[in-house]
Amino acid sequence: MSLKGRPEGESTPKRVSAEGSPVSLRRITVLVSGRGSNLAALADASLQPGFAGAVTHVVSNRPHAAGLEIACQRGIATAVVEHSDFASREAFDAELARVVDRGEPDLVVLAGFMRVLTDTFVARYEGRLLNIHPSLLPAYPGLHTHRRALADGVKVHGCTVHFVTPAVDVGPIVVQAAVPVLPGDDEATLAARVLEQEHRVLPAAVRWFCAGRLVLDAGHVSVQDAVATVGALLCPPPDPI
Ligand code: GRF
Repeated sequence: MSLKGRPEGESTPKRVSAEGSPVSLRRITVLVSGRGSNLAALADASLQPGFAGAVTHVVSNRPHAAGLEIACQRGIATAVVEHSDFASREAFDAELARVVDRGEPDLVVLAGFMRVLTDTFVARYEGRLLNIHPSLLPAYPGLHTHRRALADGVKVHGCTVHFVTPAVDVGPIVVQAAVPVLPGDDEATLAARVLEQEHRVLPAAVRWFCAGRLVLDAGHVSVQDAVATVGALLCPPPDPI
């Protein structure tokens, strides 16, 4: 598979700081399978001053993923590795790794990439592989998270960005956002409320990574110099006194 849109072997992307000096940016490859709204949020956020990373490549396992178009519109190189072309998960992941490596990423982000990756692939990018998941992990790993949250009657739901480890959806948690589950919610309304927060936490996590502010110690992540969270989300809230 060839990478489209950007010459191969391109050097480290740079941006000019407020002081006028060139700043080297971390190279980010995003893997997508579909819509690509998280990719769009991340790519757009990465253009903000002080964001020390650039989405240089997007790879999809589906040739018609809307995320590819989002990448093209932003001048980001794209590639497709169709999983259906491969006889085994191992063979697909080996080709995927080959294509990803050509982008020389400092960070690989799974943003709606709907394939379970082999341990070999995950090990190759250990410590530089992030995933966005639409639930408050460890609750609701896997699929249909919003439907399952509604079925359980939980009052708070949300999303998680975590480092990827071999087991699915259990890696060290970087950041989470919680949203209320409201009376009358259905899967679509709840998904939309969570997605809005996904578009905030994914760029935040990647920004921290690129700034070297994520510290992984004994399976737990801390964010250096993060602002302390205050307050609580009560759902439903108590009556005002
Ligand atoms: C998001 O909800 C993400 O958390 C999940 O798949 C969805 C992808 O949406 N893994 P998009 O392609 O980023 O719009």
